[in-house]
Order: sequence, then C-alpha cells, then structure tokens
Amino acid sequence: MITVAVEEEAFSEWQALLTLLFDAFEYMESRIDPPSSLHLLNKDTIVQKAAEETLLLAREEGKLVGCCFLKDMGEKMYLGKLAVGPKAQQSGIGLALVKAAIDFCRSEGKKVIELQSRVELTEVHDFFRRRGFCQTGTSAHKGYDHPTSITMQLKL
Ligand SMILES: CC(C)(COP(=O)(O)OP(=O)(O)OC[C@H]1O[C@@H](n2cnc3c(N)ncnc32)[C@H](O)[C@@H]1OP(=O)(O)O)[C@@H](O)C(=O)NCCC(=O)NCCS
Repeated sequence: MITVAVEEEAFSEWQALLTLLFDAFEYMESRIDPPSSLHLLNKDTIVQKAAEETLLLAREEGKLVGCCFLKDMGEKMYLGKLAVGPKAQQSGIGLALVKAAIDFCRSEGKKVIELQSRVELTEVHDFFRRRGFCQTGTSAHKGYDHPTSITMQLKL
C-alpha cells in the first residue's frame, strides 16, 4: 500500500532520502544545462530545507519511495524536488504525491501551486500537464541568454 504524509517528527532517514533524490535525478545529468541544484543538497542542507519547507514522503509498505518539498510563498506554494525512486516509477506514486500536495495546499488556503522544470525535460512537463498544470512562463539561470526552465502553475 502507498501512503503519502508530511514528514514525521521523528523522521531520521535523511541519507535514504538523499539517495532516493540523487537516484531519481541522475537521468537528467546528461540532458540539462546547468546542472541540477540537487547538487547543493547534503545531509545538513536537506535537514535545513525540510525545517524551512514542508516535506511530503511517499512510502510503500513502509519503505521510502518518493518525496516532494512545498515552499510557502504567500498566495502560492512552490512544489520542488518531486522524486520517485527509479524502480518505483510508473506505478502511481508521483500522482499520489501531487494529489497529496494539492490537498495540503488547499488546506493551507493557497490559490496556486507553482513549479519550475528544466526546458529539456519535456516528459516531466507532460506529466504535470496531465495533472492540470499549465505553463505560465520561462526563466534563465544566471549567465544564460536563453530559457533554461519553464514555470508551470496549477490554480486551486
Ligand atoms: C516525474 C516523476 C515524479 C513521476 O513519478 P511516477 O511515480 O513515475 O508517476 P506516476 O506513476 O504517478 O505516473 C506516471 C505515469 O504512469 C502511469 N501509471 C500510474 N500507475 C500505473 C500503473 N500501476 N501501471 C502503469 N502505469 C501507471 C500514470 O498514468 C502516468 O502516466 P501519464 O502521465 O501518461 O498519465 C518521476 O518520473 C520522477 O521521479 N522522475 C525523476 C525526477 C524528476 O524528473 N522530477 C521532476 C523534476 S521537475
């Protein structure tokens, strides 16, 4: 059974969470420029990020299989680092995380969920489009003269 819940108070599986994120994001390495901000995450910074944001964890039979972070931006909530372990993908866990994120944002009275995804990852854009997200803009990383990310939003 798959469950998705806000990080438990006693959560301590930081290394397993980092491994899950790095494994899930590995496929992008050869496709995106510049490299993912995931490289800034280590045991200390992920603990800090989870303290500042809301961390949703997906578990299958108790095992950590997916996650995402929700950052409060006032009217909006920013959805980041959505990841499902490579072996667990294509079985509905990503969708369960997005649904839980929507429920959480609604319960917090948010009007919009926003995310950014690298321009190269068109299959990720399609995943979010099929969940009702629409592209609202593009942005460029510092030093780049062309869009490197697209912004997508879901109105709640
Ligand atoms: C993007 C990502 C989070 C999606 O997670 P996922 O668990 O594979 O997603 P789901 O299984 O819920 O949905 C994927 C597809 O599988 C289908 N699916 C769901 N349950 C299924 C099942 N039991 N059997 C077969 N297919 C299934 C879904 O319908 C969906 O297809 P659709 O998008 O055409 O509707 C995941 O691929 C991932 O972690 N990617 C790497 C990290 C990444 O790129 N993150 C996004 C950064 S912006």
